[in-house]
Amino acid sequence: MPENTWWKRGIVYQIYPRSFQDSNGDGIGDLEGIRRRLDHLAWLGVDAVWLSPFYPSPMADFGYDVADYCGVDPIFGSLDDFDRLIGEVHGRGLKLIVDFVPNHTSDQHEWFRESRSSRDNPKRDWYIWHDPAPGGGPPNNWNSNFGGPGWTFDEATGQYYYHAFLKEQPDLNWRNPKVRAAMHDVLRFWLRRGVDGFRVDVIWHLMKDEGFRDNPPNPAYQADQPDINRTLQIHSTDQPEVHGVIAGMRRVLDEFDDRVLIGEIYLPLDRLVTYYGENLSGAHLPFNFQLIHMAWRAGDIAALVEEYEGAIPPGGWPNWVLGNHDQTRIAARVGEAQARVAAMLLLTLRGTPTMYYGDELGIGRVEIPPDAVQDPWERNEPGLGFGRDPQRTPMQWDDSPSAGFTTGRPWLPLTPDHGTRNVAAMREDPGSILTLYRRLIELRRRHLALSVGDYVGAHADGQVFAYERRFGQERLLVALNFSHAAQTVPLPEGVAGAQVLLSTLASGEPAIHGQELALRPDEGVVLALD
Ligand code: NOJ
Repeated sequence: MPENTWWKRGIVYQIYPRSFQDSNGDGIGDLEGIRRRLDHLAWLGVDAVWLSPFYPSPMADFGYDVADYCGVDPIFGSLDDFDRLIGEVHGRGLKLIVDFVPNHTSDQHEWFRESRSSRDNPKRDWYIWHDPAPGGGPPNNWNSNFGGPGWTFDEATGQYYYHAFLKEQPDLNWRNPKVRAAMHDVLRFWLRRGVDGFRVDVIWHLMKDEGFRDNPPNPAYQADQPDINRTLQIHSTDQPEVHGVIAGMRRVLDEFDDRVLIGEIYLPLDRLVTYYGENLSGAHLPFNFQLIHMAWRAGDIAALVEEYEGAIPPGGWPNWVLGNHDQTRIAARVGEAQARVAAMLLLTLRGTPTMYYGDELGIGRVEIPPDAVQDPWERNEPGLGFGRDPQRTPMQWDDSPSAGFTTGRPWLPLTPDHGTRNVAAMREDPGSILTLYRRLIELRRRHLALSVGDYVGAHADGQVFAYERRFGQERLLVALNFSHAAQTVPLPEGVAGAQVLLSTLASGEPAIHGQELALRPDEGVVLALD
């Protein structure tokens, strides 16, 4: 594989298909809509698109409950639409990554219908069935990630089935070789259709403790946390055998040229990096979500970057994520001014960046009125702030009544300021965050130091984090002010001078006095060092 292959050099852009562009007026985005908006992605300059699920689904979890792995839900279009989309994506020199949801199916999947039909059905063992505990009740204390027990009793056959998420999402039994073979064929189905890789849903969940031992209580649990945090998921997730399963998927991808395997993994760093696999036989990119959960403080983030850089196994390639369809949007978390600093951080760190649609518009907190709630998690554990609707609101394209997203009624509300916070308006504004994203992407593309260069920590204090990116003779310094006050940063020793390549602020430039850089409040800069 070339040293700077596309998924190392490039930028991934996540699209939540329900929310990108509707083409038929039903208020829900679709594949044809995405195809019509490819100009935006080309203009922005990203390299690869990752699509959240578009497969046939009852939509209990908006497509993460798959009823047929080899089709397209009519809400999103057809396989022909998919083929047209991938053809045009490739025609523009972009790559297409699709979501693969192997941990669970929909309870409406044919496999599960068969499995639940009788205890001796040949597909019974494709899912995780257990007798009730000796005194009655669920077989163990495993919880659902969306609240409540992880086991549901099936009256007809007198056993419980396990579901790490909704009861409509029964977990597959990956210890069964037939399940593995069937799922490998699903991968091949899409690989042959030309997809360039997969983002694998909850990959660390795939294997469970063979003895189904209870999870221990979580001593740090607090009442404002989700139900799932009551216990530590040490027996229901992250089992040693999972790495064999992932290596099996990886072998399937390796039957094809230059495809990428990305794993969704929410684990601490030391566990996360094991997902590169023994001798890098695992995920090419175990998603690194550490920035999402880190306090937005220069010192903490600098320490995180150093720790991550130090933890990646030899030959492993880093990656960074600021948000996705499950997480509070970055601008909602750190505010509008710091969202621009966050953009610079994401696009100048060493490792593949994944952007989330709408972050380039700086979409922040969106209020979802109770009667507009869609997310099943919010419905199960209401009012606690776990709902994911705010980060799934439609993309805003122009100042028309539904922001150019649909001619109908959008499935989730738009932001109140969509008349100005939209692509058409912000493209024309040199000071917009959209323009900043585009410039950052262009800068990253122009300088190999930023995409594939080395990372060298330079300076960190309570307010500022600065680092170098180096490639060949080129040395770039990135200096980020995490505070709302002016700060100074020493330039690295021995540097004769520096030119500002880009500032996150709309106008003016930071001052360089001798060996010192003066950053304005909330400013990030990229400098070329002499
Ligand atoms: C992770 C996905 O990102 C999330 O949206 C989904 O609800 C769960 N996995 C279950 O598939």
